[in-house]
Amino acid sequence: MKKIIIAIDGYSACGKSTTAKIVASKLGYAYIDTGAMYRATTLYFHDHYINITDPKAIHKALENIQITFVFNPKTNRSETYLNGLNVEDEIRKMYISENVSEVSAIKEVRKYMVALQQKMGKKKGLVMDGRDIGTAVFPTAELKIFMQADMNVRAFRRQQELLEKKQVVGIEDIIENIAKRDHLDTTREEGPLKKAEEAYVLDTTHMTVDEQVDFVINLSVGKM
Ligand code: C5P
Repeated sequence: MKKIIIAIDGYSACGKSTTAKIVASKLGYAYIDTGAMYRATTLYFHDHYINITDPKAIHKALENIQITFVFNPKTNRSETYLNGLNVEDEIRKMYISENVSEVSAIKEVRKYMVALQQKMGKKKGLVMDGRDIGTAVFPTAELKIFMQADMNVRAFRRQQELLEKKQVVGIEDIIENIAKRDHLDTTREEGPLKKAEEAYVLDTTHMTVDEQVDFVINLSVGKM
């Protein structure tokens, strides 16, 4: 069977990562969470007091950032490492969510990340999720999915995810953060979030995770 690239884009907290992860594991494909790459970059910028209006500082910071994903058999998930340090839990915290869209809107940051992501997909056999995968990273991906869901459902799901990590965040704060990120992500100049013309829309409002996974797997079979 031919190996393909599955590009999953969509709004924040629609279930992209959950779906993408399971699809990848069922197909024996690699999975790349590009949101984690922007989150890890945001963490580095935060910890090193990088002035995001200073192009030289940004350039230097990017040269010093190394992001890797390592599978942890104990947690049964792929975890994000920044310069050798496991940052998987740290990058999901609210202070990162509150700043990641500003960092990911920086032209130089996007250029750097997109190039890295394209390298990762050279051999195909990959599920990648993000905002610009079907439009900018892999415009020729064999299968493109665009995920969306009702705001209240998204916020509730995100709240549960955070609770599982022992982070208690009010629903209003989550809605505010998601809405702000949606706005910044769809209106930025560089690589804005938008549906690729040929992408299949997957509205997860009333769907279970299994149904979402089946939707993608069924479409992927026809493309291999
Ligand atoms: O997917 P996740 O919600 O973790 O992404 C965090 C943020 O990273 C998004 O709100 C967006 O600003 C940015 N992002 C991006 N392009 C991608 C993936 C994520 O700009 N491909």
